[in-house]
Amino acid sequence: MENKFLAFIVFSFILFSVLLVPTHSVTNHRCHPDDYKVLVEINKTIFPPDHIPGWVPNTDCCNWYAIDCHYKTNRVNELHFYSNDYSGQIPPAIGDLAYLEYLTFRKLTNITGPIPRSLTKLKRLRYLRISWLNMTGPVPEFLSELHNLEFLELNFNQFSGSIPASFSKFTKLLAVHLDRNRLTGSIPESFGHFTGNVPDLYLSHNQLTGTIPKSLGNMNFDRLDLSRNKLVGDASMLFRPNGTTSSIDLSRNLLEFDFSKVRFPKTLNSLDLNHNRIYGSIPKELSDLQYFGGFNVSYNRLCGEIPTGGNFQSFEASNYIHNKCLCGPPLLKCT
Ligand SMILES: *[C@@H]1O[C@H](CO)[C@@H](O)[C@H](O)[C@H]1NC(C)=O
Ligand SMILES: *[C@@H]1O[C@H](CO)[C@@H](O)[C@H](O)[C@H]1NC(C)=O
Ligand SMILES: *[C@@H]1O[C@H](CO)[C@@H](O)[C@H](O)[C@H]1NC(C)=O
Ligand SMILES: *[C@@H]1O[C@H](CO)[C@@H](O)[C@H](O)[C@H]1NC(C)=O
Ligand SMILES: *[C@@H]1O[C@H](CO)[C@@H](O)[C@H](O)[C@H]1NC(C)=O
Repeated sequence: MENKFLAFIVFSFILFSVLLVPTHSVTNHRCHPDDYKVLVEINKTIFPPDHIPGWVPNTDCCNWYAIDCHYKTNRVNELHFYSNDYSGQIPPAIGDLAYLEYLTFRKLTNITGPIPRSLTKLKRLRYLRISWLNMTGPVPEFLSELHNLEFLELNFNQFSGSIPASFSKFTKLLAVHLDRNRLTGSIPESFGHFTGNVPDLYLSHNQLTGTIPKSLGNMNFDRLDLSRNKLVGDASMLFRPNGTTSSIDLSRNLLEFDFSKVRFPKTLNSLDLNHNRIYGSIPKELSDLQYFGGFNVSYNRLCGEIPTGGNFQSFEASNYIHNKCLCGPPLLKCT
């Protein structure tokens, strides 16, 4: 009797273990079951009609294409989709990958639609890159809820509307790329009030209008690219003599200010002002800048002698052409 009972126990135990095996083989993987569930959901909704190659059920999702898991927590912390013929929209389910830190969608021109609001659930997100897609709709205000964002790239899309003023709330942002979209309106005044890190600003190739807010002169930007917009008026406040800016590109706008009066940060190494309405003369002080290696003031209304010294004479003539009356090498002698 007792033997039979013992045998029953042993038998039950073995049976139980055998039944457990399939679940066991999944939990043996690094992949967290919560992440697995979300990925299955993404696989269903993403880029129909094609599923994502290499996402095989009941295998370790940490080894799947486009995915990386954190080495300690084993939670999915990176998702990177590059150049593919995927189509559809960005799946809202991505917002449920609670441990995501890096998210990339790049060169997927058949992906369209707006940025899903669910991305704001990704409180650990540090790096968001949605670049070279055919995304439309606004650049959403709600992205500023991603307090840990260090890098934001939304360039080469078809985003329209204005730049969210709320983006000045980012405190850890190192760079923001909104270039090559269809953005309109003016640069927000709030971009002169970043309270933490001051990000590199890339706003080129849009349809931004109006004057550059005076407040931007309060910020020590490292790199600033406002080229190929329709900005008007003064830009001299962007040059801070005691700042550490390294590169400024304001080319192809409608800017109009007296260049003679501008004083420059010692760190400036590249300045492109071509195709504007800038007048006055080229300040001699520029020739003293130690790192100055890129300069284009063509197609403006400058006058007077090109300063001698520094790199001024080694810059090609094409950097000076089409001004009102600039003269001296590499252009013709002044008369
Ligand atoms: C992903 O979708 C494809 C096509 O529907 C399917 O064959 C595959 O099993 C799915 N993978 C996962 C992990 O759900
Ligand atoms: C986009 O989709 C169209 C038709 O669905 C296809 O012919 C084209 O190759 C796709 N383009 C890319 C870049 O994947
Ligand atoms: C996506 O954008 C490319 C140009 O970048 C364009 O040729 C293509 O037709 C667009 N596709 C869709 C589906 O909008
Ligand atoms: C930089 O210069 C501006 C005026 O040109 C001045 O108001 C500001 O206090 C200076 N900042 C530092 C850190 O010296
Ligand atoms: C300076 O800008 C003008 C106008 O865009 C361009 O034609 C020229 O090639 C540029 N110079 C150099 C050296 O790139």
